[in-house]
Amino acid sequence: MSNYDALSDLRMEYDVGTLRREDMLDDPVAQWQAWFDHAMANDVYEPNAMVVATVDEGGWPHARNVLVKGVDERGFAFYTNYESAKAAELESAAKASLLFSWLPVHRQVRIVGTVTRVSAEESDAYFASRPRGSQIGAWASPQSDLIAEPAVLERAVAEVAQRFEGQDVTRPPFWGGYRVAPVMFEFWQGRPSRLHDRLRYVWRSGSWDIERIAP
Ligand SMILES: Cc1cc2nc3c(=O)[nH]c(=O)nc-3n(C[C@H](O)[C@H](O)[C@H](O)COP(=O)(O)O)c2cc1C
Repeated sequence: MSNYDALSDLRMEYDVGTLRREDMLDDPVAQWQAWFDHAMANDVYEPNAMVVATVDEGGWPHARNVLVKGVDERGFAFYTNYESAKAAELESAAKASLLFSWLPVHRQVRIVGTVTRVSAEESDAYFASRPRGSQIGAWASPQSDLIAEPAVLERAVAEVAQRFEGQDVTRPPFWGGYRVAPVMFEFWQGRPSRLHDRLRYVWRSGSWDIERIAP
């Protein structure tokens, strides 16, 4: 099967770095920041893209990319529609997994955490910083709902643009941020012969334990 041949041709040898416990910062958010900076410096495409995985009420997992828009000691914030499928999943089970795939530097970071909404003030401030077209799009798109045809969205955009003509676009009440407060991080560095380095930070009784796990 030609498709299969193409996949086996893609076999990679991971040989750009190692992960030693002594090289890791005690604070996993600072460690994430160091790896993010490294990904940026190495021209990784969209290093701020992360997969957010949620679980629906039937136990089905759902994963999709979003852009991380804030990282600090409280966690990892992203912005979305509060009436979207992902929002429904987060409101019913306030836990998520995040995945950063920095493949050109043979790294991934996995995070698991609890989820809360970003404050209205913080969401307002971020919304105000967005380009006007994105602000109008946030109002116009009933994210994750069925739409009959693209023209429905185009009409909605035109209506919103007209409604806010000559004034600032305010944040829709159904749009804002979620923040994932991590309880676990895993830093993965690809190594030759699939003997990859994996170091996991686990939040246990008030501090981060760092442990090595098998590839
Ligand atoms: C690189 C990339 C970045 C994205 N960033 C966001 C984002 O920040 N917020 C968002 O709501 N959707 C974002 N999306 C779209 C989502 O992947 C998804 O299609 C949308 O949020 C609807 O998901 P849901 O129906 O599971 O709620 C992004 C998609 C890609 C490919």
